[in-house]
Amino acid sequence: MKKVTVAIIGNGNISPIYLENLTNLFRDIVTVKGVCDLIPERSARAAENWDIPCIYETMYDAFRDEEIEIILNLTTPKQHYGVAIEALRYGKHTHSEKPMSVNLDDAQELLSLSREKGLLVGVAPDTFMGAGIQTCRKLIDEGYIGQPIGCAAYMTGHGHESWHPDPEFYYEAGGGPMLDMGPYYVTALLNLLGPVKSLTGISKRMFKTRTITSKEKYGKVIPVEVDTHVNGLMEFANGAVGSIIMSFDMWKSEHPCIEIYGSEGTIQVPDPNGFGGVVKAQRGNEPFTEIPFSHVYSGNCRGLAVADMAMALRTGRKHRANSELAYHALEIMLGFGRAYESGQFYSLKSSCERPEPMPTGIREGELD
Ligand SMILES: NC(=O)c1ccc[n+]([C@@H]2O[C@H](COP(=O)([O-])OP(=O)(O)OC[C@H]3O[C@@H](n4cnc5c(N)ncnc54)[C@H](O)[C@@H]3O)[C@@H](O)[C@H]2O)c1
Repeated sequence: MKKVTVAIIGNGNISPIYLENLTNLFRDIVTVKGVCDLIPERSARAAENWDIPCIYETMYDAFRDEEIEIILNLTTPKQHYGVAIEALRYGKHTHSEKPMSVNLDDAQELLSLSREKGLLVGVAPDTFMGAGIQTCRKLIDEGYIGQPIGCAAYMTGHGHESWHPDPEFYYEAGGGPMLDMGPYYVTALLNLLGPVKSLTGISKRMFKTRTITSKEKYGKVIPVEVDTHVNGLMEFANGAVGSIIMSFDMWKSEHPCIEIYGSEGTIQVPDPNGFGGVVKAQRGNEPFTEIPFSHVYSGNCRGLAVADMAMALRTGRKHRANSELAYHALEIMLGFGRAYESGQFYSLKSSCERPEPMPTGIREGELD
């Protein structure tokens, strides 16, 4: 198979793991030809550490490079749309970090232009393609817990300002726990249970400012422009009902990240912000036991969806972390706030198909 050539826009905090995996684990599927960052030292460092041949001065230089097929967009949430829409205008397939954009209008424009031009749009996360959640998916699909009746999802923490060197974006539009961490949880639920039909929620912010305690900006006080404690209720199209809490206001909790409840038993799904973890399940009155993984990709495999998109480009099959899935996830995540403002249930206008399960019997570095 002719390898698919990729350029990376944004060489900040998350980029090293993508560079590492795309240049090693997925080296038979993709080639990273170039990197680009508004801060030139960052792209220079990325190029040096991973032996990348091109440093593009601006993203447009990458878009004009005829060899590039996929633009990997690792900028911060507010920039995702601007980078992705321009890349599409230049005829490139794009894969962006999550969320797809910070509002539905921009996401809709990405969907429309990609359809018009016959280009693929992918969006993180790809953790749902990992060993942990794929094992849960197989259990559900094989009827291990019977008919799914519900789910609960919890992400509790006190924000990223204690470790991220530039945490401001987590408290700007496009940040907050729902748009930052929600994509992992909501995408995992969509993969396990299918689309959501309607929802409601309560969305609050406990703290008006945050104080950065990571090293470089220690002591800097930043405004909080988004809600930081969101409680939601969802009704899935298959009839299951779910609750979700995403919070940067709570210190700690011992709730499992996700549980799926069925007519015959329960599955504890591992942290969806990871690829592996521990899967536990039980039936009837039996206690929980650990279930061995049925699938590969249990380490930090960020970039898996980029490799999947590359395979999809060559084979013509659908890629898994696709724009319909990401758009539906975005509509759900934004829907909780809308429902709270209106005091009513919100009916989802979009839907999505559950992505194809990952195959069993493949090795890491392979997709099909
Ligand atoms: N940091 C993490 O642990 C983490 C984990 C998972 C996902 N993410 C997601 O990854 C994305 C990036 O996060 P990050 O932590 O790496 O942010 P970051 O601020 O560390 O890096 C973003 C980089 O993008 C560059 N950039 C912005 N616009 C650009 C443009 N037009 N052209 C070229 N470069 C541009 C910035 O200069 C910066 O270096 C976010 O969407 C975030 O939600 C981050």
